[in-house]
Amino acid sequence: MAKTRKKAAAPQTVTQPSEAMDQMLKERRVFKPSKEFSKAARVGSLAAYKKLYNESIKSPDKFWAKVGKELHWFKPFKKVLDWSKAPFAKWFVGGTTNLSYNCLDRHLTTSRRNKAALIWEGEPGDSRTLTYDQLHREVCKFANVLKGLGVGKGDRVAIYMPMVPELPIALLACARIGAPHSVIFGGFSATALVDRIHDCSAKAVVTADGGWRRGKIVELKKAVDEAMPNCPTVQKVVVLKRTGQPVEMKDGRDVWWHETMAGASPDCKAEPLDAEHPLYILYTSGSTGKPKGIYHTTGGYMVGTYLTSKLVFDLRDEDVYFCTADIGWVTGHSYIVYGPLANGATSLMYEGAPNHPGPDRFWEIVAKYRVNIFYTAPTAIRAFIKWGDQHPAKHDLSSLRLLGTVGEPINPEAWIWYNKVIGGKRCPIVDTWWQTETGAIMISPVPGAVPTKPGSATLPMPGVLPEVVDPATKEKVPPGGGGILVIRKPWPSMLRGLWGDNERYKQVYWSTVPGSYFTGDGAHCDKDGYFWIMGRVDDVINVSGHRLGTAEVESALVSHPAVAESACIGVPDEITGQAIAAFVTVKEGHAAGDDLKADLLKHVTKEIGALARPKQVRFTGALPKTRSGKIMRRLLRDIASGKERVGDTTTLEDYSVLAKLRESDEG
Ligand code: PRX
Repeated sequence: MAKTRKKAAAPQTVTQPSEAMDQMLKERRVFKPSKEFSKAARVGSLAAYKKLYNESIKSPDKFWAKVGKELHWFKPFKKVLDWSKAPFAKWFVGGTTNLSYNCLDRHLTTSRRNKAALIWEGEPGDSRTLTYDQLHREVCKFANVLKGLGVGKGDRVAIYMPMVPELPIALLACARIGAPHSVIFGGFSATALVDRIHDCSAKAVVTADGGWRRGKIVELKKAVDEAMPNCPTVQKVVVLKRTGQPVEMKDGRDVWWHETMAGASPDCKAEPLDAEHPLYILYTSGSTGKPKGIYHTTGGYMVGTYLTSKLVFDLRDEDVYFCTADIGWVTGHSYIVYGPLANGATSLMYEGAPNHPGPDRFWEIVAKYRVNIFYTAPTAIRAFIKWGDQHPAKHDLSSLRLLGTVGEPINPEAWIWYNKVIGGKRCPIVDTWWQTETGAIMISPVPGAVPTKPGSATLPMPGVLPEVVDPATKEKVPPGGGGILVIRKPWPSMLRGLWGDNERYKQVYWSTVPGSYFTGDGAHCDKDGYFWIMGRVDDVINVSGHRLGTAEVESALVSHPAVAESACIGVPDEITGQAIAAFVTVKEGHAAGDDLKADLLKHVTKEIGALARPKQVRFTGALPKTRSGKIMRRLLRDIASGKERVGDTTTLEDYSVLAKLRESDEG
């Protein structure tokens, strides 16, 4: 399974405003962007943002047509949106374009031709820079390699690679010839590979001998070899030499990247593709355990990622932009590769772990390349807090001007730390809410325009109409109330469906609140219209009829000076229906034990109320996470309910965590 989150089981109950949620909304701090930042920003005031937003909602066709025309079309689109077969959308109808062309060729006739498109840092310390011109050549060559291997328009290509420049090269080459790619995160096992390759009937696989992670080799080719007997659709496997350890090459099937590239021509015209031509498939987990193939198409996704990269990251030509995600996940697709390159930005990518060789690796990179914009996940931020302020303090972070987060709700204390210790109190923070399904950022401050509140993703992107609704009445809840988050109008970068499963697409996303897209998240909207994401609705715990967002309890726990990180889950309870089990990791220099446990219970009672007191507090050395940093709550539920055997652990980042959790005190 790609992710642990359970998708779209329609929520049974309404998330009512409660004492606990009031507490989360008690976060009253407001951070206005500095005058200096606003003056130079693309959108310089709240009034300007509101004008832009209101226009986009009042006349969406006009708005999106204008944005669309900033990019290159071989044939102009005739109509912006066809929603007549809802929920199956068609955007930029009649237009033909190519995302690889827009990310590369478009810049070659400008001063960006010799600008760095990609700066890459390998985990062992090697590095490479590719200008737009150089990247274009490599992409054209690899597009020709693919064609030579028999891959044509419409054929699916599975990509299972480490975070090296050849990964974006492979994506852009696929996009160039119209072969939808399906990137499979390098942390997945051979079994997971089979499921995904099989589901999309991939014709070719692009992989590497291995990749570096915490000084060790991740043996990618070995996993591909294990998967191949069960992947009859695959005809060719291209293998990049990265780590250099011996691998088996199967005659007639496997080819070396460097050998085929050596003879490839650097000329390959970008194929004019229909705006709705499939661009990629990306698998994410569903409630049934069968991964869902989220698929995106060319034109709408291009326009959505282009606009949001420009607005949210306030990209300027001289910026170095560093997104720490892996291209195996949607964040890497949209905000390492397509969005930044469509804007002609310099995108920095790093191969390895944030704590290799030391816990200051990211800060070393920031200082080495004078990074201006840094985009990471709350879980990483909490790890940095745990590792200690001395690590960022060792490096010059003064080049940073903007910080971002994505992937889960950020607790206000982590936000404040990020602002202070990394951002030196001068960098706005963009807390960006979106999903694999949405393709692009949906709710986020536009820096320089929208004041931020720690823990809130703030206001919607232009053209995006989110609402918090009561799932029972399907009505919008009044300000301050809680409910489920839906999107009322289609948007260009929305998923077009689940690969090969239209029914599941309709049922999962469009049946909970008919006519609206159901996000699967719970949220609040405050009196200023700011959105506060409370986590997945299946992560909402119901204790004696009181609903608590796991994020709220976690936020309370993490605001205790001794706590580094915490994950709360609901466990069945005879009396109260559900009770809370809190897994807690403790900061260096603090002792776990009964005293701390008592103190934490008191602290939660103080922060939220007695109803949020965890029934179990378990101290653990680490939390189980996927390689993309998501906490695997399902495993915690299994452990908390004393199951001998836990469920699927294929996505677990570090297996030793399981043993640590089992040892955790049952409180
Ligand atoms: O629950 C929300 C959470 O991550 C989910 C989407 O996960 P995924 O498809 O893996 O995409 C992650 C990267 C875009 C959402 O349903 N989420 C994402 N960003 C935020 C968030 N929760 C709160 N705040 C965010 N900024």
